[in-house]
Amino acid sequence: MQPLPRNATIAVIGSGAMGAGIAQVAATAGHQVVLFDTRPDAAAQAIDAIGATYAKLVAKGRMGAVESDLARERLRPIASLQDAAGALLVIEAIVEDLAVKRALFTELEGIVGERCILATNTSSISVTAIGAQLAHPERLVGMHFFNPAPLMALVEVVSGLATDRAVAEVVHATAESWGKSPVHARSTPGFIVNRVARPFYAEALRLLLEQSADVATLDAVLRDCGGFRMGPFELMDLIGHDVNFSVTKSVFAAYFGDPRFTPSVLQQELVDAGFLGRKTGRGFYRYGEQADKPVAQCEPSCMAPKTVKYAGAAGSVDALAARLQGAGVDLTVIEAAPGLYCDGAAILLTDGRSATERAQADNHRDTVLFDLLFDAASAPRIALARADQCSEAAWAAAVGLFQAAGLTVTRLDDVPGMAVMRTVAMLANEAADVVHQGVCSARAVDIAMQKGVNYPRGPLAWLDAIGMGQVVTVLANLAATYGEDRYRVSPLLRRKLAADPQGARFHG
Ligand code: NAI
Repeated sequence: MQPLPRNATIAVIGSGAMGAGIAQVAATAGHQVVLFDTRPDAAAQAIDAIGATYAKLVAKGRMGAVESDLARERLRPIASLQDAAGALLVIEAIVEDLAVKRALFTELEGIVGERCILATNTSSISVTAIGAQLAHPERLVGMHFFNPAPLMALVEVVSGLATDRAVAEVVHATAESWGKSPVHARSTPGFIVNRVARPFYAEALRLLLEQSADVATLDAVLRDCGGFRMGPFELMDLIGHDVNFSVTKSVFAAYFGDPRFTPSVLQQELVDAGFLGRKTGRGFYRYGEQADKPVAQCEPSCMAPKTVKYAGAAGSVDALAARLQGAGVDLTVIEAAPGLYCDGAAILLTDGRSATERAQADNHRDTVLFDLLFDAASAPRIALARADQCSEAAWAAAVGLFQAAGLTVTRLDDVPGMAVMRTVAMLANEAADVVHQGVCSARAVDIAMQKGVNYPRGPLAWLDAIGMGQVVTVLANLAATYGEDRYRVSPLLRRKLAADPQGARFHG
C-alpha cells in the first residue's frame, strides 16, 4: 500500500506533548501541517517550541539550516476546525476522554473530505468505541505514537471492529515513510505495549512484596543481568505512580479482573501517600540534593573454588561456562544435570522453583540457583539464590566462582523464578497470548516492545533464545507454587511445544 503523498496536508488536533511531537514528525517528513487546539494560542506556542527544537537540531549538526527553515514554514496554527477541511489525514491528540473524542470526530466528519483518514492517538480507549457513532467508522484508525513522538520509533496502527484494512495499511505505510516502525494491532485493551509491558512492573512489585531484595538491588539486577535500560522501580518513579497505577488499573478492569493484571498494594500505598516518583521528589527512591543514592547489594569477596565441573546445556548454562573459561577458570566436563559444580555446590539455572524446593526435590542440600542473563559474555553482575539448607562453604564457593570471572555477585532471597527469569518469562507469556488472541503478529509484538519501551530484545525472540521448554517449565512451576491464575501458561506456548518439543520457536 502506498503512503499518503508528501503534498498531503496533515491536521493535528491537540497541541500538547503528543500533538506537538506528532506535528513535528509530519512536518519534518515534508507535509504541510495544520495544528489546532481549543486553548487560545496553544497551537502557535507549540509551533514556536517546535521551531526552537529545530534550531537545537541545527546547532548540533543533526539537521540542515535550510531543511529546518522549510519544515518550520510547513507548520501552521489554525483557529478553527473548519481550516482542517483540506487535510487527507487528521490525527487527534486531545484529552483522553471518550465523549470528547467522539464529539470531535463527529464534528470533523462534517468538515473533511470523504477521502480523509481520521486517526486517534488514544492510548487506552477502544478505537471501536470512538468510531461507533460515526457515519463512516471504517475510516477511523488508531495511530498510537509513544512519548516523545519525534524520538520514539514505534507507532501502533490500531484497527477497531469497523476499521477498513486499506485505511490501516495507508496509515502504516505513511508512518513508515516518516521513518517510524509501525505495527498493526487489533483494538484490545492496552493494545500491544501497554498490555505486554505490565509484567515488567507487576513482577518487580511482587518480588519487592515478597522481600526478595530492596528496590536498588532489583533495579540493578534487571539492568545489569537483564539488559533493560532502566530498572522497573526507577522507571515507575520516572513515569509517575499515578500514571503507571492508573494504566494498570484500567487494563485490569478492561479484562474484567483477569488476575494476570492485578494491581499491587505496594503501588496503591505510594499513590495514597502522594509519593508519585520524581515529580514529587519521592517514590520508591528519594530525589533532590540531600537524597542518598541507594546501593545495590553485593556479596563480599570469596575465595575461588579450586576445581569446577560443568554439565552443558545449550543457552544460559553454556554461555556462562564460556564466560568462566574465558576468564581462566578450568572446567572439567561431567555428565550431570546442566549446571556448574564446585565444593559440593550445584549451581543451576532457575526453573521457576525456589532453590530450597529444588534442593529437596534433587536431594542435594547445597543448591544455588542463578538468574537469567541477557548476555552472559558481558554482564557485569550475576544474581544468585541459595537454598535454606545450603552450607556456608558451598555458597562461598559459588560466589567465589563468579567473582573470579569478574562478575559482581548479588544475592536474592530464595523466591521462585528469581528476578530476570520470572520477568522475562511473564513478558514472553503475555506476548504469546497477544499473538494467540490475534491482536498482532509475533514479529509485531517484538518490534513494539523494542521500539516502544526500549527492551533489549523482543520477548518472543528472547523466549526463542532461552528455549520454549525452559520458559514453559518456569511458568508452570510459578503457577504450581502460587496456585494463581496469574501464572497460567499461554495455550499457544503449550501447543507449539507439543508440536515440536525440542525446536519450537516463534522466529526463524
Ligand atoms: P496534553 O494534555 O499534553 O495535551 C492535550 C491538548 O489537547 C491540550 O493542549 C488541550 O488544550 C487540547 N485539547 C483538549 N480538548 C480539545 C479539543 N476538544 N479540541 C482541541 N484540543 C483539545 O495531553 P497529551 O499527553 O499530549 O495526550 C494527548 C493524547 O495522546 C491523549 O489521548 C493521550 O492518552 C494520548 N497519548 C499520550 C501519551 C503520553 O505519554 N502523554 C502517549 C501516547 C498517547
